[in-house]
Amino acid sequence: MKIQQAAKLLLLGLTATACTVALAQKRPDLGKREYENNCAVCHGSDAKGKGVYNNFLKTDAPDLTTLAKRNGGVFPVANTFEIIEGAGKGHGTRDMPIWGQEYKVRAGEYYVDVPYNPEAFVSGRILALVEHLSRLQVK
Ligand code: HEC
Repeated sequence: MKIQQAAKLLLLGLTATACTVALAQKRPDLGKREYENNCAVCHGSDAKGKGVYNNFLKTDAPDLTTLAKRNGGVFPVANTFEIIEGAGKGHGTRDMPIWGQEYKVRAGEYYVDVPYNPEAFVSGRILALVEHLSRLQVK
């Protein structure tokens, strides 16, 4: 193979790699975005429970980086999903918003004229949040 051909191939390979890296960086982190937009006010942007809204709550929003630690070192996936969705702890009196309902309303606003599955929209958002929280756990 001539040097020029080899150089061309190498350049092509490098371009392809650069494109893949650029695309990977562009993919939005849905869980992080949802967390920052909806949860950080109370639970804090680092999820340690020091959100600015805490002064207005009856109970402080808990530290969400210790969910696994407080559960014997295992991140409680199903339980966390249920708490966020609102099916878990008590109804009505809690300070924590019912995100299952909130996301259902948002699904209706998001898909105005097209048929959609609200359950899939809600579970998708909550799963993304659960995944984001699982990445923030302290040892
Ligand atoms: C208005 C303030 C507020 C917002 C916004 C909020 N939370 Fe909470 N959250 C709380 C409070 C207060 C609790 C403590 C339990 C309760 O009062 O229901 C809590 C409890 C939790 C728990 C249970 C923690 C534990 O230690 O068992 C999880 C998980 C959680 N929130 C996740 C989220 C996620 C994810 C979001 C964003 C989609 C969010 N919260 C948004 C106030 C809030």
